[in-house]
Amino acid sequence: MIDFYFWNYTRVVFGLEAEKELESHLELLGDKVLLHYGGGSIKQIGLYDTVIKTLKKAGVSFVELGGVKPNPRLSLVYEGIELCRKEGVTGILAVGGGSVIDSAKAIAAGVPYDGDVWDFYTTDKNPDKALPIGVMLTLPAAGSETSTGSVITKEEGELKRDTGSPILRPQFAILNPKWTLSLPWYQTACGISDMFAHIMERYFTTVEHVELTDRMAEGAMKTIIHQAYRLKENPDNLDARSEIMWAGTVAHNDILHTGRIGDWATHMIEHELSGIYDIAHGAGLSIVFPAWQKYMLDKHPQKIAQFAHRVFDIDYYQDDIKETARMGIKRLEEFYRDMELPVRLKDAGIGTDRIREMAKKATRDDKIKLGNFHKLDSKAIEEILHLAA
Ligand code: NZQ
Ligand code: ZN
Repeated sequence: MIDFYFWNYTRVVFGLEAEKELESHLELLGDKVLLHYGGGSIKQIGLYDTVIKTLKKAGVSFVELGGVKPNPRLSLVYEGIELCRKEGVTGILAVGGGSVIDSAKAIAAGVPYDGDVWDFYTTDKNPDKALPIGVMLTLPAAGSETSTGSVITKEEGELKRDTGSPILRPQFAILNPKWTLSLPWYQTACGISDMFAHIMERYFTTVEHVELTDRMAEGAMKTIIHQAYRLKENPDNLDARSEIMWAGTVAHNDILHTGRIGDWATHMIEHELSGIYDIAHGAGLSIVFPAWQKYMLDKHPQKIAQFAHRVFDIDYYQDDIKETARMGIKRLEEFYRDMELPVRLKDAGIGTDRIREMAKKATRDDKIKLGNFHKLDSKAIEEILHLAA
């Protein structure tokens, strides 16, 4: 185990009437709030009206900025920064999924910053000041409700980049599984794929003696698989929705990261895919992860075999570690297929013509390598993307 510092200060309110807790948390956002949301789903589920009523009842003045798109865009972030400065906004309430929360984080970091907020996404500079953020989560997936990260896409150059800072963690996150009942199956499945990936990114480490977090991660992955199949059978199953919602937060709140070094190459490769092709992040991950594991078969078969055995209950195959690992990858692909997710580039209508470009962009023209389990240069990334073709 490596040394670590764990401090996740986000207050989480989870429950079937969790919206009632909003009023008592509003003071954390100051006296002028930006209400930030996406393309309208919160209006369809009635959450918008509830939030407006609560803000008015609490006597909090607010301005609104809707229209956040999946793979949130930098142009709307700039608009949000201008609006907040003009209106003297003191805190942001993000109501929606990961894209809305990430956009809120970018605005929150941009308001007190003299330079271009895009600096935080493209240089070593990380935000050290930000407006406070509150979250009402409607999509269990990205884990942004308690994470330090934000991922934004700059339209020009199709660049999807991330930043991270402890000050970007939301002050509070309100989670009601009922809000997720309206999710189309595809979004539910993409969310499941994303949270599962957040655990795998941490699970595949070369750090030894991490049994506690290995076992916690395996328990979380087994739970996600089990509840995912229950949800697939009945998307209205509120117990399964609850399990999945909490799993999405636990997968990315860093508790499963303690004492370990995560990998994250798959995420970085995926960001190139969704940056160019505008596919859902979870769908990109179900394409890249099996290919990444196949590439790792020769390098680290032991850990992949452990994953196969403990997460997918595959017996060690005649003491053949590599074959056991291979069977685990097959089961992972089956799981994704059962969830109706793409597992090959072609399933998402993506060809191989821009693989080289993606590999070059991901490594900043071979100036950096990706991942830690085994470091990847652009050639390795190309190989992985061809394995995903
Ligand atoms: O825009 P609206 O109308 O709200 O519709 C959204 C959107 O179309 C819809 N939706 C959300 N809640 C709904 C709903 N539809 C019906 N009922 C509901 N209750 O779902 C669509 C997708 O929403 P989005 O927020 O884009 O999805 P997600 O939560 O998966 O977020 C994806 C983004 O998060 C980033 C990804 O890269 C991607 O840009 N990530 C952020 C991370 C972080 N900040 O820590 C980590 C992740 O690894 C990830 O990279
Ligand atoms: Zn993710």
